[in-house]
Amino acid sequence: DDISSFRKQLLRWYDECKRELPWRTLAATEPDVNKRLYAVWVSEIMLQQTQVVTVIDYYNKWMKRWPTVQDLAAATLEEVNEMWSGLGFYSRGKRLHNGAQKVMSELKGEMPTTAEDLQKFLPGVGRYTAGAVASIGMGQVTGVVDGNVIRVMCRTRSIGADCTSPSVTETLWCLANTLVDSKRAGDFNQAMMELGATVCTPKAPLCSECPIQKHCRAYKQVKIQLELASERL
Ligand code: ADE
Repeated sequence: DDISSFRKQLLRWYDECKRELPWRTLAATEPDVNKRLYAVWVSEIMLQQTQVVTVIDYYNKWMKRWPTVQDLAAATLEEVNEMWSGLGFYSRGKRLHNGAQKVMSELKGEMPTTAEDLQKFLPGVGRYTAGAVASIGMGQVTGVVDGNVIRVMCRTRSIGADCTSPSVTETLWCLANTLVDSKRAGDFNQAMMELGATVCTPKAPLCSECPIQKHCRAYKQVKIQLELASERL
């Protein structure tokens, strides 16, 4: 049907065109679930307010120094802040550090494994970050909505209203949970973000390169308008 074709085309494009990013390689190759969840958690916190290109070097250095949640918990806040210097919004580093110590003292070093538990237990982990970590790290079938995903979905569904208003956002979370691929939830979510970051951009989107063009109502409407306009000439 329509949704499975949407998933298939988006994922095929992602497999061919995705950027190779260190946290993606790690999530795909690390067999230890606990290490994987930690690695994805670190990446998502770094990516909260910092661009992908800037995060890459910091992420690689961080994971080399503290490859597990135990290693991070054993660090001092001074070391964490030093490592974070240049990324901005220092509270994020402190929250990672606090979270790691909490995981050690209250969960015997085992990261929470569901979106619900991640959000409840870890400081600085909201609905988006919890869903991202659980889907990318564990394959939990849960959708995510961030700025890029909001734009992609508002365009494909041609939602003209203010797409950041609370009622629209709630609708988009439902939509994201309906759309997400149950076998490849993490890749599907990252594919939606990737599409928003590289093709379905805020200004001058590259519709001719879009893998889900035929599922896009905004694209269809613009095409009809253009056809009508040329008829009138
Ligand atoms: N922004 C937030 N999470 C991301 C991810 N997993 N990949 C690329 N950009 C992101």
